[in-house]
Amino acid sequence: MRLQGKRAIVTGGGSGFGAGIVTRFAAEGAQVVIADINFENAREVAQDTGGHALHADVSDPASVTNLVAEANDLMGGIDILVNNAGITHLPALMEDVSEEDFDRVFAVNCKSVYLMARALVPQLKGQGSGAILNVASTAGVSPRPKLNWYNASKGWMNTATKTMAVELAPSGIRVNALNPVAGETPLLASFMGEDTPEMRAKFLATIPLGRFSTPQDLANAALFLCSDEADMITGTCLEVDGGRCI
Ligand SMILES: NC(=O)c1ccc[n+]([C@@H]2O[C@H](COP(=O)([O-])OP(=O)(O)OC[C@H]3O[C@@H](n4cnc5c(N)ncnc54)[C@H](O)[C@@H]3O)[C@@H](O)[C@H]2O)c1
Repeated sequence: MRLQGKRAIVTGGGSGFGAGIVTRFAAEGAQVVIADINFENAREVAQDTGGHALHADVSDPASVTNLVAEANDLMGGIDILVNNAGITHLPALMEDVSEEDFDRVFAVNCKSVYLMARALVPQLKGQGSGAILNVASTAGVSPRPKLNWYNASKGWMNTATKTMAVELAPSGIRVNALNPVAGETPLLASFMGEDTPEMRAKFLATIPLGRFSTPQDLANAALFLCSDEADMITGTCLEVDGGRCI
């Protein structure tokens, strides 16, 4: 019960890595709000884990303000925020990605981190504690062609993590990031463009440990970084990548 008594929001908690993180946090004693634009998925995860499902669009200021208020009402406070919701554009040459797709990727992957900080950081400062975890990507550390603007959005997230960590450290708030390698989630097909055995083999060939990441891999790392065991760790962007970034 490494999160006994803790209250967490996990954005994008209705699917993939987020659902894995919710499941592990709940098993370790946390109360969890599953905030997702797909409410049906959030409700299913809530039913499975005993969490609270909320509909939220993390790219929308009013929705984020509402999410923080409702999470406080449901749990009586907030100790942990996992900024996990994220999207990608399909693989394409950089000049062929539409402006609409570019704006959407940056709104969901980057602006959301600002909006959540604006809504929650004053409260965390007031209590003098808190842990924020940003789910970025190996794409932000070691980018490859054709996922260009997605890669850049995740690089932004890693820099945001460090600047948040240094500014919030005096207030007792820790901020870290995870950099997952390609994982077995519904998003994987969008990264690959086409889900074929050949494309899977191409992606796997870049991962020294020879397998895709799983929601459990990410949940294990998230649990550590959000627990009091990581009390001296802030500003770290941890690869969960089977060696992909070596
Ligand atoms: N799967 C991978 O290969 C991989 C690799 C590296 C990083 N990541 C990152 O991990 C995170 C989770 O991805 P995943 O693979 O679990 O994807 P996923 O598609 O399975 O889950 C993402 C969840 O976010 C939700 N979401 C999307 N837009 C939202 C919005 N505006 N507001 C609220 N919720 C929203 C979706 O409904 C979905 O439930 C993302 O940030 C992604 O970029 C994924």
